Amino acid sequence: MRRPILFALLLAVRSNALVRFHCSQLVTERLDPLVTPGMVPSPHVHQIVGGNSFNATMHPEKDMPGESTCTSCQFTEDFSNYWTAVMFFRAQNGSYKRVHQLGNNQFTTANGGLTIYYMQDAIYDRAQKSKVTAFQPGFRMFVGNVNARTLEEAARFRYLTYTCLDTFVTRAPETIAFPKRHCKEGIMTTLRFPTCWDGKNLDSPDHMAHMSYPETGTFESNGPCPASHPVRTAQVMYEVVWDTKPFNGLPWPEDGSNPFVWSFGDATGYANHADYVFGWKGDALQRVLDSPCHFSTNCSEYGFKLQSIANMNKCVQLPVVDEDIDGWLPALPGGYQSQYGPTAL
Ligand SMILES: *[C@@H]1O[C@H](CO)[C@@H](O)[C@H](O)[C@H]1NC(C)=O
Ligand SMILES: *[C@@H]1O[C@H](CO)[C@@H](O)[C@H](O)[C@H]1NC(C)=O
Ligand SMILES: *[C@@H]1O[C@H](CO)[C@@H](O)[C@H](O)[C@H]1NC(C)=O
Repeated sequence: MRRPILFALLLAVRSNALVRFHCSQLVTERLDPLVTPGMVPSPHVHQIVGGNSFNATMHPEKDMPGESTCTSCQFTEDFSNYWTAVMFFRAQNGSYKRVHQLGNNQFTTANGGLTIYYMQDAIYDRAQKSKVTAFQPGFRMFVGNVNARTLEEAARFRYLTYTCLDTFVTRAPETIAFPKRHCKEGIMTTLRFPTCWDGKNLDSPDHMAHMSYPETGTFESNGPCPASHPVRTAQVMYEVVWDTKPFNGLPWPEDGSNPFVWSFGDATGYANHADYVFGWKGDALQRVLDSPCHFSTNCSEYGFKLQSIANMNKCVQLPVVDEDIDGWLPALPGGYQSQYGPTAL
């Protein structure tokens, strides 16, 4: 029974892209043009990558790519902004210290940031044959629940995960709570956005309702999109490598809990979340998706310009919010304290 399947796999021809590329850190600060536009500072700290037109307010009707003069991403036509919350370590004396990010596997010289994937099908499906639609100018989305503190509340977001890196390339198992043990090489967070669009709205009040996971539950199962969200988009996935190594030698909580906490106080890990503001130039993303380029290794052969990691590292913004986020802090920036229960602030 195995043989015909293997034979089919060998014959399968990759028809579309599965791109994987890195973006270095653009800036780390309290701004959030998606959830709290115009608010300076925003409630909690984020780490942001992408085009340098990132700002407290980003009008969807404005031409973002046109305003950026550089991008911290490898694809030079990608001026999108990608961001997540920031991880902190809580010492036994109650002080906090920011956990920095590392360049991912194959991008180790990158200055922090995160790795982006755009896929047509599940990552293990080598053929990548589904046809997917790129996002449009002004499109943005969010995934996760900042208030989730229980497994039940996080169940809807089981594609936002943690991997305890015993080696730099450990990729399993994935958990939806913070790892409860020392992770030798760090902690990876993997964030997968929904892949079905309503075809009409570039955004929605909760920044999620215009998107849906497929009807059968997961993108991985290649299920059809629900009638309410009929347009199949690319799977956008982030991988973020958090350098928890410097904290493995410090004392951890005596009650066996983990000492890591998100920048808004969540110490459970259930409130993992991610933000996306589309900003590819013209139809560049659709052209990438329709090409057979693979990871970022041979995309230049299809006419896409990729910049060196050294150049990506040069595209940075000075924070507009002037505050210490890197010292030993008595509270998380914004005044949050680590908590396992409902949000205090
Ligand atoms: C951010 O917005 C402010 C206020 O509109 C503006 O002065 C500033 O130049 C903008 N920064 C960037 C990097 O676009
Ligand atoms: C708290 O603990 C950390 C880690 O041991 C230490 O570096 C820091 O100086 C301490 N802060 C205070 C206020 O004692
Ligand atoms: C790029 O890599 C993919 C996957 O290995 C392959 O199918 C495609 O033919 C390659 N293209 C070129 C121009 O080498």
